[in-house]
Amino acid sequence: MNERYAARPVVVDCDPGHDDALALLLAAGDPRLRLLGVTTVAGNQTLDKTTRNALRILSLAGAADVPVAAGCDRPLVGELTVAEDIHGPSGLDGPDLDVPVAGAVDVHGVELMRRLIVGSAEPVTLIATGPLTNVALLLRGHPEVAPNVRRVVLMGGSTDRGNTTPYGEFNIVTDPEAADIVLRSGLPTTMIGLNVTHRALATTEIIAEFHGLGTRLGAVCADLMTFFAGTYHRVFGFEHPPVHDPIAVAAVIDPSIVRTVAVPVAVELTGTYTRGATVVDLHRRTGRDPNADVAVGLEVAAFWRLLMAAVRRLGGVPGPAARR
Ligand code: RIB
Ligand code: CA
Repeated sequence: MNERYAARPVVVDCDPGHDDALALLLAAGDPRLRLLGVTTVAGNQTLDKTTRNALRILSLAGAADVPVAAGCDRPLVGELTVAEDIHGPSGLDGPDLDVPVAGAVDVHGVELMRRLIVGSAEPVTLIATGPLTNVALLLRGHPEVAPNVRRVVLMGGSTDRGNTTPYGEFNIVTDPEAADIVLRSGLPTTMIGLNVTHRALATTEIIAEFHGLGTRLGAVCADLMTFFAGTYHRVFGFEHPPVHDPIAVAAVIDPSIVRTVAVPVAVELTGTYTRGATVVDLHRRTGRDPNADVAVGLEVAAFWRLLMAAVRRLGGVPGPAARR
């Protein structure tokens, strides 16, 4: 891109997690974003592990200067159930990752989010790729940040089936009350659900392309996706694993990557079999006002070009200018 542009300030709240790792690389590696900080939440693994994984990925990406703060270690209500069957005991099984060069900053993740948002000269986009516990506490505990939040872009939910329960997606099912708080906040919100993320599959060709970068970062991405492919096949019977989280980042970099519809979304909190389901009123049958821009389409090839360019750039490999 040769036109002048101001990089958009973002904060990523995540639970690394294989696909969170790719989301962090895209956020750190695309020049159209300015990654102000990363906060971690318990989800795919316990908080200590998701925090260590975020530090390891940023360190490997040469982005150890980005502040990382640990947030909540459990959902608002109920107990944490991690996704060890998908992400392994470390939460980032597959590659051997080095010890991170930097540690987490000594403030709670919600406090780091607050400081970064109120201290930003322009409104900040909050990208959430894990359970929404931290984001919910930020919005409820610090309403003063809302005027400087440009948009919340979350990976979570689905317009159709779930992955953790028949109708519940992991990030929402892990903390339904938090998701309800965020979706009722009134802030501009984009929901990137399984209905589109299941189209972004890390195929053998994608894994070969990571290897073909010829960098340690490319090899780590290939190893991450190879492990992810094994667990997704064993648990869900998928031929290739869907990379959910980086699509939320891509949607901020280039909103045309996803097609969205403005519709009402509710979170089921009391259903015996459906707690944590996102009830997306696509046909406007409820008469409720829209509260989210819900992704219903994905430019798959453009998404992978964006991600591969970021990993190439972080690995020090010269390549074509960022393009769709
Ligand atoms: O359901 C997929 C989501 O849950 C992704 O964010 C994955 O990393 C897990 O957090
Ligand atoms: Ca995640």
